[in-house]
Amino acid sequence: MLRALGVEDADAVYAYARDPAVTEFVTWEPHTSIEQTVLYLMTVETAYRDAGLLEWGVTLAGSGELIGTCGFARLELDHARGEIGYVVGRAHAGQGYATEAAAAVLRYGFAEIGLHRIEAQCVVDNAASARVLEKIGMRCEGVLASRVRIRGRSRDVKMFARLARAGEGHG
Ligand SMILES: CC(C)(COP(=O)(O)OP(=O)(O)OC[C@H]1O[C@@H](n2cnc3c(N)ncnc32)[C@H](O)[C@@H]1OP(=O)(O)O)[C@@H](O)C(=O)NCCC(=O)NCCS
Repeated sequence: MLRALGVEDADAVYAYARDPAVTEFVTWEPHTSIEQTVLYLMTVETAYRDAGLLEWGVTLAGSGELIGTCGFARLELDHARGEIGYVVGRAHAGQGYATEAAAAVLRYGFAEIGLHRIEAQCVVDNAASARVLEKIGMRCEGVLASRVRIRGRSRDVKMFARLARAGEGHG
């Protein structure tokens, strides 16, 4: 299930956001204090009001436990384009949760926001993320050289995308 995040989720988010294995392929550093997690959640709450960023909590349907986040890291409505991102803590990895969450965000982006193109980028070595994107029907359009800098090292990224209507996008 996807639901809104709030500062009351700080303990659950900090539990995985402090894990260096989780941040290996992302541009943010592992959280070093719960206060840092609270600040992050406050920016998410502000973004809900300003609609500049839409990131939701990923929770288990039965227990309601928060295990990660998924949503739009960027929305460029002028171009009917959005970029998705997701994190699932290691304790719950490999069970299809990121795939299920990302598929729901894609559906929401196309059907509710009216996006035409949804993108995602992952570092070339992030095989699990690339697999998630393939499983939700996104196509790798190519590799962007030295696109991001992660802990002082420039990394190549794969650009994935899916269009609202298959077959369009060559005009
Ligand atoms: C990437 C991430 C979101 C995947 O979450 P998840 O819930 O484990 O993903 P799923 O279970 O839905 O799918 C993972 C797929 O990757 C595969 N996979 C996992 N590790 C892999 C590896 N090292 N090499 C190749 N495939 C791998 C799994 O087998 C699975 O594919 P399958 O269903 O065909 O077997 C999670 O590992 C994560 O949060 N990583 C850290 C943050 C991150 O990198 N976010 C993405 C930034 S682009």
